[in-house]
Amino acid sequence: MASPTVLTGIKPTGTPHIGNYFGAIKPALESAEHNAFFFIADYHALTTVKSGSEMKKLVQEIVLTWLACGLDPNKVVFYRQSDIPEIFELATILTNVTPKGLMNRAHAYKAAIAEKINDDGINMGLYNYPILMAADILLFNTTFVPVGQDQKQHIEIAADIAKSFNATYGNVLTVPEARIKKDVAVVPGLDGRKMSKSYNNVIPLFADEAELLKCIKRITTDSSAPTDEKPLDHPLFQVYKLFGKTDIKTNTGWGQLKQDLFETANTFLKPMRDKYNSIDYAHAEKLLAVGATKARAVAQQTLAKVRKAIGIQA
Ligand code: TRP
Repeated sequence: MASPTVLTGIKPTGTPHIGNYFGAIKPALESAEHNAFFFIADYHALTTVKSGSEMKKLVQEIVLTWLACGLDPNKVVFYRQSDIPEIFELATILTNVTPKGLMNRAHAYKAAIAEKINDDGINMGLYNYPILMAADILLFNTTFVPVGQDQKQHIEIAADIAKSFNATYGNVLTVPEARIKKDVAVVPGLDGRKMSKSYNNVIPLFADEAELLKCIKRITTDSSAPTDEKPLDHPLFQVYKLFGKTDIKTNTGWGQLKQDLFETANTFLKPMRDKYNSIDYAHAEKLLAVGATKARAVAQQTLAKVRKAIGIQA
């Protein structure tokens, strides 16, 4: 059997933070020992990013993030979704084997409906999001999709769509599976809730030292005395552990603990930050062009099989 294919994408909807790194980017990069495809899902961001200049900036940030976090473009196929027109053709085809009810049950759509009162406040990009994501995945004969728990349903939908296509047209598409690491923690934010751009509680991955210290000082603490034993499940200690620190003295003052956390975090993040700031974007564009050529070679093969199966121009 051919070696398994691993594929994952990041949607450029916000400046990357340490929750994205420990929850998604790092586990994805660790699974890159296989035939791997890593990409920037720029068209997925279009459901929410409504400014051209903002989109451009966010896409560039994710391109640089992948590279700064250690993606090796010689080992994995690294590309931008919008450079692969085959994805959009496959998405159009897949709409026809996708039950509308399946889309009605998608968590993101259901959450939007709950918030928006009716369908008029929801764009079709959001509604069709799982189909575009299925196209991303199925076009590359993906076996495993390393993602966070929040993406599990999307992978299940992609698998359902592949099965539905295969049931109609024969065994053409590989049925993918999510690969969710068990030990990936939900990263707490500065206020103790899940770290999320929408809660304004994030530690940006590439913040400079001053900003990093400022963020860490914002971590919510209580009025316990310096020598009091602090609870180990406090967000400060959880964040500390992510940076590889285990021998933390919990009967230390919060101010000191924050200073120490800053030092540990800064030592960990500095090499990635330096790399992020040193990459020339024109060079990154060249890497993406090479990646797009490699990706399209695979994409065109799958699309040719799909077109043959459905009887369009084959
Ligand atoms: N929906 C994913 C997210 O929000 C991004 C994404 C788009 C993706 N296409 C994908 C992830 C294909 C894995 C595979 O994070």
